[in-house]
Amino acid sequence: MKILVLGHKGMLGSDLTAKLGINHEVVGKDIDDFDISSAADCRDVVAEAGPEAVVNAAAYTDVDGCETEEDLCFRVNAEGVRNVAAACRKKNSRLVHFSTDYVFDGTKGEPYVEEDPANPISAYGRSKLQGEIYLRESAADFLLVRTAWLYGKKGRNFVKAIVARAREKEKLEVVNDQFGSPTYTVDLAGAVKILLEGKFSGIYHITNRGSCSWYEFAQKILEISDLREVEIKPISTEELARRALRPRYSVMSCGKFHAASRKTLRFWQIALNDYISSDEQLK
Ligand SMILES: NC(=O)c1ccc[n+]([C@@H]2O[C@H](COP(=O)([O-])OP(=O)(O)OC[C@H]3O[C@@H](n4cnc5c(N)ncnc54)[C@H](OP(=O)(O)O)[C@@H]3O)[C@@H](O)[C@H]2O)c1
Repeated sequence: MKILVLGHKGMLGSDLTAKLGINHEVVGKDIDDFDISSAADCRDVVAEAGPEAVVNAAAYTDVDGCETEEDLCFRVNAEGVRNVAAACRKKNSRLVHFSTDYVFDGTKGEPYVEEDPANPISAYGRSKLQGEIYLRESAADFLLVRTAWLYGKKGRNFVKAIVARAREKEKLEVVNDQFGSPTYTVDLAGAVKILLEGKFSGIYHITNRGSCSWYEFAQKILEISDLREVEIKPISTEELARRALRPRYSVMSCGKFHAASRKTLRFWQIALNDYISSDEQLK
């Protein structure tokens, strides 16, 4: 299958490119090749590649930055999806797209299923939800994967930030009242490959198994990285005072993915151990 990966230099896009490249012909495009907020650029990159499937991992992902750059975040995360979907529809390419647990408000108190109503509480969440709406309206053949709390080799992420601050012997303060499912981009890319090759469509929640608070996630990072001696203090969301609101509990049920593929992603602690022990800079 010929696959076009948009945002192929990003954290998820780079692992998708590697994983899908095992069995498929993969072409990658990123911000230096095209601007997703331009309908003409999207038409051109899809027409030029002529792919059977387009995998869109391009996005504006700075959650706090979205609060001050709301226009840009909607152009990329919402209008960008409309542009890619229209280009895919024109060329009869399937479209795989990614959304987030941050489309939910976090008040449900139990894992969110695909049919639960979205109610984002941040500009990032609203822009991603609008992208989902454009995708559904586009009549393109789509697979929409909602995921959460990603970390991977490329770019900045929570794991790298905690290890870097711990090595500087900084005293860490980490939020202990927001719960989610840390997810390794390599594992997510493998799940996407299964769904794409199986020609599944519709919405799927995919994360590593299990859940924790950011504080528990940080504790595990320190333990695996042999930095147990570093002092870490649990704090509340109010104490951290970040620009964007975040859901308190955005764990998602992956039951639909399991029913479709008969697969379950690994527990997040096992994936995290694998990630840290395979990354030269984190070891
Ligand atoms: N990271 C998470 O924790 C998380 C959680 C849930 C869902 N997701 C979703 O998963 C997907 C992948 O996220 P990620 O963390 O891998 O993202 P990422 O590392 O930020 O990668 C996104 C890529 O898109 C590029 N890009 C930005 N604006 C663009 C534009 N106007 N035109 C073309 N390309 C553009 C970025 O370039 P620059 O780097 O130069 O800006 C980057 O290479 C996104 O849809 C995201 O919303 C992420």
